[in-house]
Amino acid sequence: MKITFFIDGNEITLDVEPTRRLLDVIREELNITGVKEGCGQGECGACSVFLDGKLVNSCMVPMIKVQGSSVITIQGFSKTERYKVLEQAFIDAGAVQCGFCTPGMILASEALLTNVANPNDVDIRKGISGNLCRCTGYNMIIDAIKLAKKRGRDLW
Ligand code: FES
Ligand code: FES
Repeated sequence: MKITFFIDGNEITLDVEPTRRLLDVIREELNITGVKEGCGQGECGACSVFLDGKLVNSCMVPMIKVQGSSVITIQGFSKTERYKVLEQAFIDAGAVQCGFCTPGMILASEALLTNVANPNDVDIRKGISGNLCRCTGYNMIIDAIKLAKKRGRDLW
């Protein structure tokens, strides 16, 4: 089935099975490997992307649902000023260890900071509750998000 959609701002048409996972198309057809596969079951957030502005787990999205939509991956988001602030804050707060969860954490942080004006710790924990990290114990990620908000006050 021919499916046309936007990926990181570029329009693309692919002939794919309608039940194929968006995650597989992103990684295998488009070679956007910043989007990771962890659990493959909608539970870890490593495969996060924005689909029409909403944070989703791309391992749970069949291609039929992507027809006519706009998908933003971590690689598209990395061109923005907000990404740069988040990236530096994650580095400075020690929130990146193995790095496997980081692309999803960054996108979850972007969603949180866009949707909640002045998030407190509870808001932040809730905002990243769909993203698993095996390394940091989460506190450094929470610190990174607070730091990004402080530094990028005008951006969100
Ligand atoms: S790989 Fe998609 S949520 Fe874990
Ligand atoms: S930094 Fe390793 S899983 Fe989060």
